[in-house]
Amino acid sequence: AATRTFSIIKPDATRRNLTGAVTKMLEDAGLRVVASKRIHMTREQAEGFYAVHKERPFFNDLVEFMISGPVVVQVLEGENAMQRNRDIMGATNPANAEAGTIRKELAESIEANTVHARRDRRLMTDWRLRRASVEDAPAAALVA
Ligand code: CMP
Repeated sequence: AATRTFSIIKPDATRRNLTGAVTKMLEDAGLRVVASKRIHMTREQAEGFYAVHKERPFFNDLVEFMISGPVVVQVLEGENAMQRNRDIMGATNPANAEAGTIRKELAESIEANTVHARRDRRLMTDWRLRRASVEDAPAAALVA
């Protein structure tokens, strides 16, 4: 059965007019864009969304980057949506990403890596889940 997942097109991509190119790669990978919204995240939203990384050395730079320009938050639907999204996205560091993935083809650096996708399928397999976990609440709020 089709499931849904949540994805973000990051500021490095919107800045370079790559929203369409990224979306095309997602669609070609069998994902349907069922919701899409271009927003400029607040610092509070970015910190909340990436709270899982708050002890990491790159946290502050990550938050600054994510609020440096608009992002496009999307809900994607398809068979095995989260894994499909991760596969077409590629490794975090574009230098390690496989050819044909979004990050290999389009990303600038490990920070400016063009897209975000969920990594835990227990979270927000369906973004409409009423009992969203703490980690899911910021994501659900972004696209609402
Ligand atoms: P993302 O999948 O959105 O999850 C966390 C983000 O932190 C990651 O993509 C990168 O954009 C950013 N980041 C910056 N430096 C690192 C790093 N050294 N390791 C992992 N993620 C990093």
